Amino acid sequence: MSAIEVNIHILLVTFPAQGHVKPAIRFARRLTASNASLLVSLATNEAIGQQMRDSGAAGSDEHISFETFSDGLSVVGNQLDADKFMAQLNRAGPEGLATLINDLQVRGRPVHCIVSNPFVPWVVDVAEGFGIPCAMLWVQSCAVYAVCYQSLYRLDEFPTPERLNIDVSLRGLPVLKTNELPSFLVPFGPYQCLADAILGHIKKIKKVKWVLANSFHALETEAIQSVSELTPIMTIGPLVPLGLLGRSTASEVRGDLWKSEDDCLDWLNTQPKESVIYVSFGSIVSLSPKQIEELAWGLASSGRPFLWVAKPVDSTSEFLLPTGFLDATAGRGKIVKWCPQVEVLTHPSVSCFVTHCGWNSTLETIAAGTPILAFAHWGDQVTNAKFLVDVYSVGVRLERDAEGVVRREEVCRCIEEIREGPRAAKIRENAMKLKEAAREALEEGGSSDKNLMVFVEDLISLAS
Ligand code: UDX
Repeated sequence: MSAIEVNIHILLVTFPAQGHVKPAIRFARRLTASNASLLVSLATNEAIGQQMRDSGAAGSDEHISFETFSDGLSVVGNQLDADKFMAQLNRAGPEGLATLINDLQVRGRPVHCIVSNPFVPWVVDVAEGFGIPCAMLWVQSCAVYAVCYQSLYRLDEFPTPERLNIDVSLRGLPVLKTNELPSFLVPFGPYQCLADAILGHIKKIKKVKWVLANSFHALETEAIQSVSELTPIMTIGPLVPLGLLGRSTASEVRGDLWKSEDDCLDWLNTQPKESVIYVSFGSIVSLSPKQIEELAWGLASSGRPFLWVAKPVDSTSEFLLPTGFLDATAGRGKIVKWCPQVEVLTHPSVSCFVTHCGWNSTLETIAAGTPILAFAHWGDQVTNAKFLVDVYSVGVRLERDAEGVVRREEVCRCIEEIREGPRAAKIRENAMKLKEAAREALEEGGSSDKNLMVFVEDLISLAS
């Protein structure tokens, strides 16, 4: 690293979870590729820092360094639930981050800009305390940002415990039913601690000089326009590996928190073109045993090949497939714990993606032009699914029954619907159009490329 003349140093703070680390690394890479005078330090807590080192996620890039700060917890053996973890991070994170900033200064690498994450609002105060300008990397959709902003200031009627199931009409967005709103904003919805963090961050948004969103203009034109009338936002996405969009790049640091079973690509090589159903629910969603059983038998009776990321929720649990399932699908199914998702999505054998609609998976699928079987669970996933199916028309929704389970017949029906017939053809056509729009946003002079350049030029003029 000594050979590099460091002019501008950006400290990119990421929330310690896979869905946040991935876009942060991709953003870091985009920045350092855009201007040789930028150096990025990507900072997260010690536990995730350790996990990244163990899985090789940190990789090596001479312009990007990986740093950690203390959250007051030991590196191993922390199984705090989300509420307790968020409370602990809020308590200890500010001091840990301040220590890191001082340490970087001592190491001759003073910080010129701090990039925050929506789940860690206190980063804004730490930046203010040091007098360092602050940006925020919004890692969900602009539609979700619009919902959060309008919910915070109650710009329209939102569900209350007394009136839970209502239609919500917000500017720039389609009418959203309660179960299509990010679930942390809905009374009794899971992960309310995320609402506290996100809304807490939006409350401080005037102290943030740049709000950079992982999205692109052509995808969310109305939502972006409506948000921009309330508060400035710049889209710089999709943050996907540029290779996915047909651009040749230096090899990207993948940022996986688990070891990837890359040999599944060899298996894909043996499958017919556009035949394989890819199934994955990201890094956090867990399926009930009943749901695993129904999904498994749905895949079995579809008669089609499949690649399923069957990831246990944590190191102490197992992902139990139903008895007889592996025999029934022998030679036709491949089960892994973690895979190189981007390579899988762009593999010629893959025909469609059964996804939980996490925002990274959503953008990667859009950039790959792959049709979607939307199986959202909570958080922003339900809003993303609404857009994928009803607004962009690039997918089919797997419907739950009265018990909240997607049954095997429904799995089979949706697989047929997305593969055959006029709706399938239209979905493929729309998916290819969105893929092209994603490519255009990132090419030189495209909407996201221009916004990134504005940010970089602002940084350069601040430092000069
Ligand atoms: C979480 C939330 O669940 C999601 O709703 C929110 O939008 C972001 O934070 P996660 O559930 O992990 O994220 O989903 P997602 O956003 O899709 O991110 C998962 C990432 O892991 C993607 O980049 C995906 O490519 C990657 N992945 C997943 C792999 O590389 N290999 C796998 O086997 C599975």
